[in-house]
Parts: sequence; C-alpha cells; structure tokens
Amino acid sequence: LIMLQFFLVLIPQSAEHRRRSLALGQQYSSLGSQPILCGSIPGLVPKQLRFCRNYIEIMPSVAEGVKLGIQECQHQFRGRRWNCTTIKDNLAIFGPVLDKGKLFTSASTRESAFVHAIASAGVAFAVTRSCAEGTSTMCGCDSHHKGPPGEGWKWGGCSEDAEFGVLVSREFADARENRPDARSAMNRHNNEAGRTTILDHMHLRCKCHGLSGSCEVKTCWWAQPDFRMLGDYLKDKYDSASEMVVEKHRESRGWVETLRVKYNFFKHPTERDLVYYEGSPNFCEPNPETGSFGTRDRACNVSSHGIEGCDLLCCGRGHNTRTEKRKEKCHCIFHWCCYVSCQECVRVYDVHTCK
Ligand SMILES: *[C@@H]1O[C@H](CO)[C@@H](O)[C@H](O)[C@H]1NC(C)=O
Ligand SMILES: *[C@@H]1O[C@H](CO)[C@@H](O)[C@H](O)[C@H]1NC(C)=O
Repeated sequence: LIMLQFFLVLIPQSAEHRRRSLALGQQYSSLGSQPILCGSIPGLVPKQLRFCRNYIEIMPSVAEGVKLGIQECQHQFRGRRWNCTTIKDNLAIFGPVLDKGKLFTSASTRESAFVHAIASAGVAFAVTRSCAEGTSTMCGCDSHHKGPPGEGWKWGGCSEDAEFGVLVSREFADARENRPDARSAMNRHNNEAGRTTILDHMHLRCKCHGLSGSCEVKTCWWAQPDFRMLGDYLKDKYDSASEMVVEKHRESRGWVETLRVKYNFFKHPTERDLVYYEGSPNFCEPNPETGSFGTRDRACNVSSHGIEGCDLLCCGRGHNTRTEKRKEKCHCIFHWCCYVSCQECVRVYDVHTCK
C-alpha cells in the first residue's frame, strides 16, 4: 500500500517565545497498514481531515487526549448540576458548528470555556506523553531545554517535549477557529489557556542510581505535571473566569468581532485566564442548546448542604428515596502467607434521586 506520508520540520520562530511551527514536507513511503481511516471519524472539518491524514501516527494520541480531558472534566464537576456530560463523540468538541446553536460546544458559557481548555490541554498532554514513550517516529524527547546540569545531577532519561504537543494541539483544536466572530476568538483564547497550563507547570523529575538506593548518580529530565493537577488548576480558572462583551470593528477584511472585559473594575484576563460572554443557565431543566440535561433522576446526597446535596441539585423539586442492595466483600482474613479471603455480604443503601 503506497501512501503519502508527511514529515515535520521544526522551525524556530522567535527566540523570545521559542515557539515552533509545523511545516510540512512530503515524501512517498509505503506503510503496511493504515490504523485509522480519517474519513470515518465524524465531525472533522476539512483542515482536521488533512491534519489526520498528515499525522496519522499521532491521531490515536489526539483522540486519547480529548478523552482524557473530558474524563478530567467529569471528575472536576462530579455531583454538580452540570456534570460535564457532553456529546457522545468527543472529537466533535473541536468540530464544526453542526447545527447552529444546537450543540453545547458551540455555546459561549463558562462551562464551554472549561471544556475547550481541558480538552485542548488533554490533546497536548497525550501527544507529548506518547512521543516520549517513543510511539511515533515524528517526535521524541526534548533536547532543546537542557541547559547545564545542576548541582549533584546530570541530564538523563527522556525529557517530555511539551512544546511539540502544544503545537499539535494548536493545529488540531484551533483548526476551525479562524472565523472573525466572537465565538472563534473565545475558543482560541481558552484552548490556548489550557495548553499554556502545561508549559507553565513543566518540572524536573529525577531518579537516583547507585548501590542499594544510594544516590551516587542522579539523573533528571523535564516532565509534564500530573493531569489531575492541571484539572484542579483549570477548575480554579473556571471559578474565576472573566465575563466579556463582544465588540464589532470594521476592518478591511470586513466586520470583525473581538472580546473586551465586561467589568472594567475587575482584573483584566491574562492569556492564562478563561473567558466567556454568555451567562450559564441554572442547568435544572434539559436544554440541548446549553448542554443542560436537567437534574431529574440524578443521585443526590441527602445529608449535604452543598451543590451535590438534594436541595440544590434537585433545584427545589424534591427527591425520591429507594433502597438498593449491593454485594460487597466483607469479613476479610489475611492468611499467612500470602492471600486474603473474603465473604460476600449484602448491604442495603438508601439511594436518593431528584424528582
Ligand atoms: C451526569 O448527568 C447525567 C445527565 O443528568 C446523568 O445521566 C449521569 O449519570 C451523571 N453522571 C454522574 C457521574 O453523576
Ligand atoms: C454526603 O454528604 C456528607 C456531608 O457533606 C458527607 O459526609 C458524605 O460523605 C456524603 N456522602 C456521599 C455518598 O458522598
């Protein structure tokens, strides 16, 4: 099977930002099999389809990254009225505005800002990780940021090349965000804020070598932060997100919308802050336009006065209570040596769900 394969050329742009750009050269080579059929992935815009064909090797990590982002979103928002239940097809988060206004990801709320930031961070993160694991010939370890070794350690292992992951995420996630409208401006900003979080939190990870744990030789490499830490950080950014207003300008290319901070007495958002320009609904009733599934039948905590408590989660509609039997391991005994045996017990739980 003869297939067109592209390779990457990394061009240093500005010394200041050390940003690189993806430039494509092409060559013919034969690949044994094609792992992904780009055309069969729903929701890709033409530029993303081209991206998929050009970077077919890293597409699994791109998809993996979006999934990682959504899982983290669901962790951060578990138990809340909006719990980050999004569309089935995760990649469509960066896809076209399918049915104008009908898809949550085309909303301009705080929640949409968070989803974009965490998903584009997820793509950068997963691509970077898989490059360091050597799964693609297109990328590998970072040799740009070595610098002199420190006191008592030397460089070793594989430094994760987060800039490459960020670059890939920028190409893929921002592919459709080139319209001159406010939504594009918002998505571009939040996607970048998510990715920047990774670059800001790169740190040295070290390992000791030597007889029986002595640290005779210590080697260090650059590592990405824990993804949970990124999720916590972006959740704080969600809580402090900046509300913007849309401004229209007449430019030579036509009308262009930009975003300006709504309340001038608040701190202006930096490139690391999340921005939005539409208020969120209360998420009590289902409304596909805003990504609200409503809270009917959601499990709530009857003894909590917080957001996951029945009062708030059920929006004052009250709740139903039923009992549920669950099988659990119990009376576990540790046998010398070495196994554990348990019995199975049935426990009865009260389950409360919103009316
Ligand atoms: C999130 O909300 C949806 C829609 O209300 C619900 O079906 C789902 O079970 C919830 N997930 C969790 C983990 O609570
Ligand atoms: C319900 O809320 C109470 C009080 O906040 C807490 O102690 C308890 O662990 C919660 N239960 C569950 C199942 O989350």
